[in-house]
Amino acid sequence: MEKIVSGIRPTGNLHLGNYFGAVKNFLRLQEEHNCYFFIADYHSLTTHPTPGDLTESVKNVLVEYLACGLDPEKATIYLQSDVQEVAELYLLLNMNAYMGELQRVASFKEKARKQPQNINAGLLTYPVLMAADILLHHASKVPVGQDQQQHLEMTRTFARRFNNMYKVDYFPEPEAYNFGDNLIKVPGLDGSGKMGKSETGNNAIFLSEDLKKTRKKIMRAVTDAGPTQKNQEKPEVIQNLFKLMSIVSSKDTVEYFDEQYNECKIRYGDMKKQLAEDVIRFVEPIKQNIDELHKNEEYLNKVFEQGAERAKENAGKTIRQVREIIGFKNKF
Ligand code: ADP
Ligand code: TRP
Repeated sequence: MEKIVSGIRPTGNLHLGNYFGAVKNFLRLQEEHNCYFFIADYHSLTTHPTPGDLTESVKNVLVEYLACGLDPEKATIYLQSDVQEVAELYLLLNMNAYMGELQRVASFKEKARKQPQNINAGLLTYPVLMAADILLHHASKVPVGQDQQQHLEMTRTFARRFNNMYKVDYFPEPEAYNFGDNLIKVPGLDGSGKMGKSETGNNAIFLSEDLKKTRKKIMRAVTDAGPTQKNQEKPEVIQNLFKLMSIVSSKDTVEYFDEQYNECKIRYGDMKKQLAEDVIRFVEPIKQNIDELHKNEEYLNKVFEQGAERAKENAGKTIRQVREIIGFKNKF
């Protein structure tokens, strides 16, 4: 059994891409491992220093993950800022994090380019806070995508440096959790190849959106003029539509439309209608959960309270030990 930590940024609503790319793997992990999932609200201040609606964003994220099946009885689910011990570990790790290495981090350079008017110290030390999140629990594995590999590498560096500096074997060096074949890339509706948040919102199918809207978006998904030769290779936009179908529909359904395509008899309208039915069948129960959970604030508060309590057990112990290792004494 691994000890697993992952942070969730409180940004936007979940779409099917997030579900099959990340959330579904969390659901699997919580069955088999000792998981700590937290909402990274401290982190969000690095890009949104005065987030008027932070509470609302945090609530949204919590509701949507719970609606998908994240289970507070199986995993520890908490709010980062409820466990203030992480801020002390962040402070202490900052003393062993060097300006040069932080400035070379790709995500820092990208954010600095994007917000030249707000290149704050929190942005620079983002990887240190992330290391604190992970090391606070002595996690062995961290389920993160390619874009977070460099941050995880820095966590290992900070852990190793701490151990060397104080001549202890205290922090384990966490590794990326490798999902292998379980990492699916979900295509979007605009033909761009990947489902993601877009300006119009029409590329993604959101779990919380009105189902009529979902149907409409799918019916408007990008296609082409149709095949002209039997068994011709599918262009990318059509491949994407089939891929999406293979994720939510039965094998028979996909095979049926595949055959229609190969026979040049396909009617994309019919295919999209079927796709919409199958997407809605999948999304509807999750959406119902979302609507109900939103109303149940008492339960949501309980989830965070219980999560913080459990997270603090590790956190308190780590902070006490780290203080002792570094040499802080409470008394003369
Ligand atoms: P977005 O691209 O909509 O901004 P995020 O970057 O917030 O989504 O992604 C959060 C998580 O969901 C990441 O782990 C990411 O790998 C995963 N994810 C996002 N879009 C997809 C997709 N189309 N297919 C698979 N996984 C995805
Ligand atoms: N940086 C991660 C992201 O952008 C979120 C995150 C914060 C995180 N702390 C973490 C992920 C600790 C894993 C472990 O998605």
